[in-house]
Amino acid sequence: MFIVLEGIDGSGKTTIGKRLSQYLKSKGFGVFLTEEPTRTWMGMDVRRAIEEEKNPFSQALLFFADRAEHVMDIKKHLDFGDIVISDRYVYSTFAYQGAQLEKIMALEDALLWLDRIYEPFRLDPDTVIFLKIDPRRSMNFVNSRDFREKFERAEFLSRVQDIYMMLAEKYDFYIVDSNRNLEEVYEDVRKIIDKQL
Ligand code: TMP
Repeated sequence: MFIVLEGIDGSGKTTIGKRLSQYLKSKGFGVFLTEEPTRTWMGMDVRRAIEEEKNPFSQALLFFADRAEHVMDIKKHLDFGDIVISDRYVYSTFAYQGAQLEKIMALEDALLWLDRIYEPFRLDPDTVIFLKIDPRRSMNFVNSRDFREKFERAEFLSRVQDIYMMLAEKYDFYIVDSNRNLEEVYEDVRKIIDKQL
C-alpha cells in the first residue's frame, strides 16, 4: 500500500507521518516512511535550488529528477511488501510549481506540462490524505525572517492550497481538517488508513 500525505507548509504532515508509521509498525507491518524532497544528494540539490530561488522551470525539473529516483526506491519497498508513507509527492509539484508557473503561463498549461513529465514514470498512490489548514495558522509553525515575508508566504500558500483543492477532486484525496489539535487530526488519518488495511 502506498500512502501519500500532502498539505501546505506547517500543516502537520511530518508529525502525522511519524505517528502513522509507528502505529502501522506496532501492528506488525513493514513500513517505509519517506519524504520529498528526498534525503539523497538530489534532494539536497532541490533544497538548494529553492533557497537560491532558481526559476520555476528548473525547480520543477529538479523536483522530478529527485522523484524519478524516489519512485524506483518506493517500488522496491512495495515489491518487498512494505507499506510506504511519503511525506509529499507529485501533488506538491502540481500545487507549488503550479502556483509559481501560473505567474508566467496559464495554470492549465502548467499542470499539463508537469503531468507530461511525470507520465513515463508515474506511480499512483493508493491513498492521498490532504491536511487542510488555514495558511495564516500554518505560518505560525513556519520560521520566517520578517513580517512582510511571512505575509507574502501566507498569500502564496493560500494559492497553493487552492490548487491542492482542485487536485483533490481530480485525484480523489481524503481531506482532513488540520486546524485542530494533533491528536484529533491523527485519529482521523488513522481511521482512514484502518479502513483500507
Ligand atoms: P518540506 O518543507 O516538506 O521539507 O518541503 C520543502 C519545500 O519544498 C516546501 O515549501 C514545499 C516545497 N516543494 C515544492 O515546491 N515542490 C515539490 O514537489 C515538493 C516535494 C516540495
